[in-house]
Amino acid sequence: MIDTASHFAAEISAGIPSSLPEPKQPDQSFSHAPKRKDILSNEEKVLALKNALRYFPKAWHSTLAPEFAQELKDYGRIYMYRFMPEYEMYARPINEYPAKSQQAAAIMLMIQNNLDPAVAQHPQELITYGGNGAVFQNWAQYLLTMQYLSEMTEEQSLHMYSGHPMGLFPSHPDAPRVVVTNGMVIPNYSKPDDWEKFNALGVSQYGQMTAGSYMYIGPQGIVHGTTITVLNALRKVGREPNSGALFVTAGLGGMSGAQPKAGNIAGCVSVTAEVNPAASRKRHEQGWVDELIDDIDELVSRVKKATTGKETVSIAYEGNVVEVWEAFEREGIYVDLGSDQTSLHNPWAGGYYPVQLGFEEANEMMANDPDKFHDLVQESLRRHADAVNKHTAKGTYFFDYGNAFLLEASRAGAEVMNPQPSIGREFKYPSYVQDIMGPMCFDYGFGPFRWVCTSGKAEDLEATDKIATKVLSELAAKAPDEIRQQMEDNIRWIIAAGENKMVVGSQARILYADSEGRIKIAQAFNQAIKEGKIGPVVLGRDHHDVSGTDSPYRETSNIYDGSQFTADMAIQNVIGDSFRGATWVSIHNGGGVGWGEVINGGFGMLLDGTEDSNRRLANMLLYDVNNGIARRSWARNEGAVFAIKREMQRSPGLKITLPEETDLDLSNLI
Ligand SMILES: NC(=O)c1ccc[n+]([C@@H]2O[C@H](COP(=O)([O-])OP(=O)(O)OC[C@H]3O[C@@H](n4cnc5c(N)ncnc54)[C@H](O)[C@@H]3O)[C@@H](O)[C@H]2O)c1
Repeated sequence: MIDTASHFAAEISAGIPSSLPEPKQPDQSFSHAPKRKDILSNEEKVLALKNALRYFPKAWHSTLAPEFAQELKDYGRIYMYRFMPEYEMYARPINEYPAKSQQAAAIMLMIQNNLDPAVAQHPQELITYGGNGAVFQNWAQYLLTMQYLSEMTEEQSLHMYSGHPMGLFPSHPDAPRVVVTNGMVIPNYSKPDDWEKFNALGVSQYGQMTAGSYMYIGPQGIVHGTTITVLNALRKVGREPNSGALFVTAGLGGMSGAQPKAGNIAGCVSVTAEVNPAASRKRHEQGWVDELIDDIDELVSRVKKATTGKETVSIAYEGNVVEVWEAFEREGIYVDLGSDQTSLHNPWAGGYYPVQLGFEEANEMMANDPDKFHDLVQESLRRHADAVNKHTAKGTYFFDYGNAFLLEASRAGAEVMNPQPSIGREFKYPSYVQDIMGPMCFDYGFGPFRWVCTSGKAEDLEATDKIATKVLSELAAKAPDEIRQQMEDNIRWIIAAGENKMVVGSQARILYADSEGRIKIAQAFNQAIKEGKIGPVVLGRDHHDVSGTDSPYRETSNIYDGSQFTADMAIQNVIGDSFRGATWVSIHNGGGVGWGEVINGGFGMLLDGTEDSNRRLANMLLYDVNNGIARRSWARNEGAVFAIKREMQRSPGLKITLPEETDLDLSNLI
């Protein structure tokens, strides 16, 4: 593989090469996206080919057309493998990118990080995570985008339509350099099959949350969020760390694999069931789970010993989670916390394995007899919910982990509905956002703030960790009681972050912080850059945050004024950030819970040590967090009312409409 700096720069600047490269096959050493549904009519297939060919000179069409037709047939998509670059794909130090604008170079770095094979799930199909979370739809879009970024000035903005670079438009230095939209469709055309069709045509893509917004930072983000959830769930049931509390859950996959590590950090005994032995062994080898047990009786006696001995230990049960819930009920084992992270957003194609079948048997049946498989999944879900219900009747605290467990269980006819339903409380059990993440974090403005050191140096990351610890410790010393616990949890996290060695790809860090914390940390970074102590830093966040995402069963599930199905907040957020100084902004349909189910957005901002950076960060971060707090406060969420009043005292110019509570018994009037 040729990879000299000058060759790399020349390739980037060339965009689509001037002579036709040799054909390439997907490299079998990488993981590849599954074949997609054959959804286009013959007429639409012709249109998909025409759409793909418009990126290339006419003289190449007769060569490329049959090749692209074959890709469409073999994979259900046209990825244009022939145009995959020769150079290695990873986040280089920012000064290695050929660019006229440092902001544009920072975006190139972030794009390459999202496509780095060490980071991305299916790198050659340009998918970063979540099975279909795409950065681009095809390699022509990647090449053109990088070329535009290499030549753009700070008097231009690049507009990205679902991976397609529409082009550079004249703008001004304070405007975002890039504006990204992914999967934005007319609402009536937002069913999953609409996505399959538009994506196969090459006109839309599923950007997930941080895939199509160039802000993915590998697995550390999920560990932090999961730790916060488990830690606070234990507090909710009044259990101290290292007191032998028991947490039962399922899934050791992509995100769910963070559960045992979080259980250990929170100081409990955790049992995570996993039907796929390859997944449980991988997590064990990686040190993410302490012990593997494949016999249910052995599990029962090990758990009794661990809880009695007040151990902190994570155990993977190699089998079905339903067996665990049923065995613990039979054996009288008290479960303090319960949840589930099987992939129930995708129940019929391997997201959930029914208890009646072995793992291999299930894999065969879902392909060969999908109707029978469907029935067995639903029967298993009813058994699953029955067993959980028996535990919760004894006091277990069970929560839905944003994986659609309650939704699918209810569709299967399981007893999970709230006997006295109210708006937003249709189910018997809460979601993790309703009870934990929403009222304890999002309502106060705490969310997954993150940064990337663009020098690529580990010592820069270490320096930023120290700066963030210092800033947070100063803030915690004078924090009001309502948020002191959050501050202290985050200080503990950042102090241990380096030791946890969770960097994969770019030198990145995640930290839950509120508006004041994010601004003060960013100002301190900018000062350190100005003094030459560290290189430029990119700021960003997950879309799963205070203001970025409208998602009625997840991020906004703790909104009870009926507005949880509206998406004004996410749209306002991206517009508001864009004219307050973001370096790039993005807004997506889908992400986390599926196409049509959510609107989510985010930003990236380059800090370069200048006064301009200082002005932009203060203005934009204040809005980026407080937009969501204002909306949560208008929905009468107590924590958010407290947080927005506090922010108004601190921030001149901020004046938010506050809700008036009524004491009247209004039901008499209806
Ligand atoms: N971690 C988080 O913070 C978070 C937040 C929101 C939503 N989620 C949701 O959690 C779910 C899991 O995400 P993931 O990335 O880990 O998915 P994944 O598909 O990689 O992992 C799920 C695992 O569950 C296992 N499994 C399925 N059925 C089982 C059963 N009956 N018993 C035991 N194991 C079983 C599968 O073998 C698989 O390894 C998704 O629906 C995701 O949207 C996670």
